[in-house]
Amino acid sequence: MITSALPYANGPIHIGHLAGAYLPADIFTRFLRMKGEDVIHICGTDEHGVAITLRALKEGVSPKELVDRYYERIKSDFAKFGIDFDHFSRTSRPIHHKNAQSFFLRLYEKDYLYKATMKQFYDPKSGRFLPDRYVIGTCPYCGYPEARGDQCEKCGRQIDPEDLKDPKSALTGEPVILKETVHWFFKLSALKEPLKEYVSPKDWKPFVKEFALSWIEELRDRAITRDLDWGIPVPLDDPDAKGKVMYVWFEAPIGYISATMEWAEQVKGDPKAWEPYWLDEDTVLVHFIGKDNIVFHTVIWPAMLIAHGDYILPTDVPANAFLNLQGRKLSTSRGYAIWADELVEAVGQDIARYAVALYIPEKDDSDFNVRDAFTRTNAELVDNFGNFAQRVLSFINRYMGGRVPEPGEFTQQDRDILNLLEETAKRYEDLLLKYEIRLALREAVNLGAEVNRYYEHQAPWKLRKEDPERARTVLYVAFQVLKGLSAMFYPFVPSSVETLWGYMNIRDTSFSSLVKPDPSLAGHPINESKPLYRKVEEETIKAWEEELKKRYEKAIGKATDEKKKEEMPRIKYEDFAKVKLRVAKILEAERIPNTDKLLKLTIDLGDEKRTLVAGIGHVYRPEELPGKYIVVVANLKKKKLRGVVSDGMLLAAHDEEGNPVLLTVEKEVPPGSEVS
Ligand code: MF3
Ligand code: ZN
Repeated sequence: MITSALPYANGPIHIGHLAGAYLPADIFTRFLRMKGEDVIHICGTDEHGVAITLRALKEGVSPKELVDRYYERIKSDFAKFGIDFDHFSRTSRPIHHKNAQSFFLRLYEKDYLYKATMKQFYDPKSGRFLPDRYVIGTCPYCGYPEARGDQCEKCGRQIDPEDLKDPKSALTGEPVILKETVHWFFKLSALKEPLKEYVSPKDWKPFVKEFALSWIEELRDRAITRDLDWGIPVPLDDPDAKGKVMYVWFEAPIGYISATMEWAEQVKGDPKAWEPYWLDEDTVLVHFIGKDNIVFHTVIWPAMLIAHGDYILPTDVPANAFLNLQGRKLSTSRGYAIWADELVEAVGQDIARYAVALYIPEKDDSDFNVRDAFTRTNAELVDNFGNFAQRVLSFINRYMGGRVPEPGEFTQQDRDILNLLEETAKRYEDLLLKYEIRLALREAVNLGAEVNRYYEHQAPWKLRKEDPERARTVLYVAFQVLKGLSAMFYPFVPSSVETLWGYMNIRDTSFSSLVKPDPSLAGHPINESKPLYRKVEEETIKAWEEELKKRYEKAIGKATDEKKKEEMPRIKYEDFAKVKLRVAKILEAERIPNTDKLLKLTIDLGDEKRTLVAGIGHVYRPEELPGKYIVVVANLKKKKLRGVVSDGMLLAAHDEEGNPVLLTVEKEVPPGSEVS
């Protein structure tokens, strides 16, 4: 049972989405299917939550209009890219609403949900309680006037809505007030031990497992309802439930099950066909996601499943890091991306898939550089694989009567390359099963390079007259290796390999038979063939480089226009002199659990040591910080952030993407030195 993260129906699909989840999931599924496994790949759009309502507000359309538009667009983007879901559903479908509500009720009946009062911002003008992102105000850190109640888009710091200065409603622009409201909470704290037992023995990617375990350590109950009129209504007969919907991150993962149920009804015509995939203890459940979704899939969703009791738990959660483009962060809202549909239009489905597959960010963020990507694709896919296929098939068609020849005695070189095929296939399989997709592809590419060398060296075009029997043997061997290579390339470039199988006249396309040399193929008739791919031309590469530069400048322009709009009131020197700036030396740095960005730093200020919390953990790794000299504001009031008291604030510039760049001193001065 394979799923890919349900994308929000609020924008088209770009290469970052594809590399992060959908392409690796598709490759993995296609491979398992070739192995004869009973496997389905399920997905759909995530259509609730503030990601949808805010985008709709911005575009001036209704949420319904927005999700209807993007459901169609996203579905077609995936189809163009050859992402072959067994079913692509939507969380707005009635089957999901029903299923999510019954899931909620099960947890409620089993006492895993409770009602509690909390204070939340309320917009008196619209008469509504506001989710975090609906509260706008001045950032307490950088003074940016348009900061959101969950994060400041300018300085990137995480904030609580109560920290904003002059908080206003995003709906009406009016000032908001704090008011008591009730929500339902999920008793996550009660599931700490079962979760630990569940995660501890897992053989997951190290960064995924570490993240999950550190969250479980700090597990707190969470509100799973929201005040929104867009979403799945809380199914309780309680006056307090009026106007409340389930938190999107509570119901969306249930969508994996709902979508499988819909598949059973609509595709299989058997409403019970979903059951083995979610109820059978022997089923392997795998969620492909991007790294921003880790906590939901490794902690909260498993906790929901444990609490529910009927369903199996995720076996593995192969999360990927992020993909950059030309060294810059992708951004849907600013339009800095390569979109799935335009890439396929420009270079074709399989070249596009191959180029993106080269950069799947399996362990760290990776950078999609169009020149590298297409140069490598030209070499590895077009030359190494495609041209080799065409050389072998056209030789057989022209000089061997269109039939795979009968081999003579094998030489050591023939045996070596055939052995290499079988060894490579074994390694390829082991790697793919460990989600080492890029390394698996390396195996196929290396075998391709070897068999090209073999073919060049044997030079059957010369042997044809000098030693026809040798020529026949070489073509026989080359055909067998090509057949094996086709199996290993298939999950990456499925449509061209299917064409190739047509040329080769091969019907049994199971992995094990393709990678095993088959002696009964001597005499096997093949079909006329054509080159499988066209190289990406230098002009195309140049055009992409130009276009991306333009897109980037436009995206930056958008960002700086926003900045220019801010006024800059002048202050007196005395005002500035109130701020005590000091040089500090970083002694220690560690990540604060349950946060993406916050680091706890211990700093040396000359006559004292202090602790401060800084929102730089998404850019700086803790281990690279000790020893650095930084500048801090030393006389700021102390502030508690995520349970840690921060005594001071470090200074950082912000690059074009808003990422912090630490301020350091040009030459070492004693820690504690004044800055003025
Ligand atoms: N829509 C979310 C995102 O794009 C992913 C939801 S995955 C699910 O980040 F499990 F909740 F469905
Ligand atoms: Zn800020």
